Amino acid sequence: MATYDTLGATYARTRQADPRIAAQIHAALGNATDVINVGAGTGSYEPPRTVLAVDPSQVMLAQRPPGSAPAVQAVAEHLPLRDNAADAVMALLTVHHWPDVAAGIRELRRVARRGIVILTWDQRIFRERFWLVREYLPEAAAFDDTRAIPTDRLVDMLGGARLEPVLVPHDCTDGFGAAYWRRPHAYLDPRVRAGISLFAQTGEDVITPGLTRLADDLTTGRWQARHPELLTLETIDVGYRLLVTDL
Ligand SMILES: C[S@@+](CC[C@H](N)C(=O)[O-])C[C@H]1O[C@@H](n2cnc3c(N)ncnc32)[C@H](O)[C@@H]1O
Repeated sequence: MATYDTLGATYARTRQADPRIAAQIHAALGNATDVINVGAGTGSYEPPRTVLAVDPSQVMLAQRPPGSAPAVQAVAEHLPLRDNAADAVMALLTVHHWPDVAAGIRELRRVARRGIVILTWDQRIFRERFWLVREYLPEAAAFDDTRAIPTDRLVDMLGGARLEPVLVPHDCTDGFGAAYWRRPHAYLDPRVRAGISLFAQTGEDVITPGLTRLADDLTTGRWQARHPELLTLETIDVGYRLLVTDL
């Protein structure tokens, strides 16, 4: 069973494409006339020119909105597609779930004619700049250390890529790991956590002590006293990166 068949049951509830991040992804796709989305899940960020979505999880594919691009159940490591199948291939917030990243990237290069766009994060930046994992959930940061793919390794596998920082707006509509950086109470909500694989895969029992401490700090005002600067920011760079390769 694909991991997201258990993790992804309520994904579409909290993970809606953020329009500002969508604009950046679509700009990175340039003038590609057709796009394949690998690790597509529920279809967030797919531009209208998407011709195919690929994902191993039936539970995720079942949450694609009516009218989305056709989808096939498969893994990145074995794409059921011919060479040079589309102008561009995108893979968003997914490479860290692939059992064999090198094989998956080789497949992206094989099926893309002109460009590849990957959204991922730089774990060294993330664990240092994102207050939640730095101050409350070091166990989650340690788990991410084991699964994050270093961006320079990805760049090597891609044969080169341009890195663009992806800033997270304070009201980000896509509830991924750091989306609620200025809305700390959200992390106390199990429905929010259910849409973030970092929490599900680290384990509720492991993160409960840190979340209890966060709840306490929010009640006493300690969190607010320690992070006055956050409340003045509109966006934050905690390490999310677009890797853009022109073939
Ligand atoms: C965090 S979700 C991202 C979904 C979507 N790209 C988005 O941005 O909302 C990660 C997705 O990667 C998929 N995935 C896991 N292993 C995979 C693999 N080996 N090949 C392709 N996709 C995979 C999961 O099923 C899940 O749908």
